[in-house]
Amino acid sequence: MLVTLRLMIDLHSHILHAIDDGSRSLADAMTVARTAVAGGVSLMVATPHGRSSISSGSRYSVALLHERLEELQGALDRAGVPLNLVAGTEIYAEPGALERLRAGELLTYGGSRAILMEFSLAIAAQTAEELIASFQLAGYRVVVAHPERYRFVQRDPNLLIPLIERGALMQLTADALVGLQGTQMRRLAELLLQHGMIQLIATDAHGPHLARMPNLAAARETVTRLSGSEAATLLTQRIPAAVLADEPLDLPAPRSVGHRLTLW
Ligand SMILES: [Fe+2]
Repeated sequence: MLVTLRLMIDLHSHILHAIDDGSRSLADAMTVARTAVAGGVSLMVATPHGRSSISSGSRYSVALLHERLEELQGALDRAGVPLNLVAGTEIYAEPGALERLRAGELLTYGGSRAILMEFSLAIAAQTAEELIASFQLAGYRVVVAHPERYRFVQRDPNLLIPLIERGALMQLTADALVGLQGTQMRRLAELLLQHGMIQLIATDAHGPHLARMPNLAAARETVTRLSGSEAATLLTQRIPAAVLADEPLDLPAPRSVGHRLTLW
């Protein structure tokens, strides 16, 4: 069991310290790393926020990202914590983002062609699709961060289907699935999962100061219970690995939610 779990990959985290609203100190980052490893994660992508409009406390730059990552990886190696870090960016879909990505100011997943993208929570489904299409046309594979948080998804999960059909991968947040974000969010997460609308699970861990610690193992257990162990392996290991390696994926088609939602 543990041998399998140790292969888990977390594609969304704010583990790096003092760069955005994630870990505040190297000690915090070490705590996040140790928690992830204890839960069976062996590879974590650090994806600090890369928004151009600097929100409170953000100091994002690629140079600082690499500096923090090397500092943390060195500390992990010296302490014997078996976690490999990879660099990425949580890219906010805003004007100029594609140009910044091409210029190397925003990062793909570890130098692959895949990117982690987040939207304004109030974005319309059609706008999200157009933004995804523009990055895909430029040659990128798009992973959509936390689809469960967008209002259009909360109103009508079926609006995700065209996005998935055009190849975008939906990254569910582990906390949402295990109930740490409330009952409504858990029910929506389960609904998305059970209708094939989720292609991978990640933690979006921010650190102890926000009580947002990595918990991929708990989410994996939930996937196993709801959808079986094969799905759990797919969502926490095989698809994340394929994303990092730019490998093609042959995924099951999403299924429509047939009944009216009364979650929100
Ligand atoms: Fe995030």
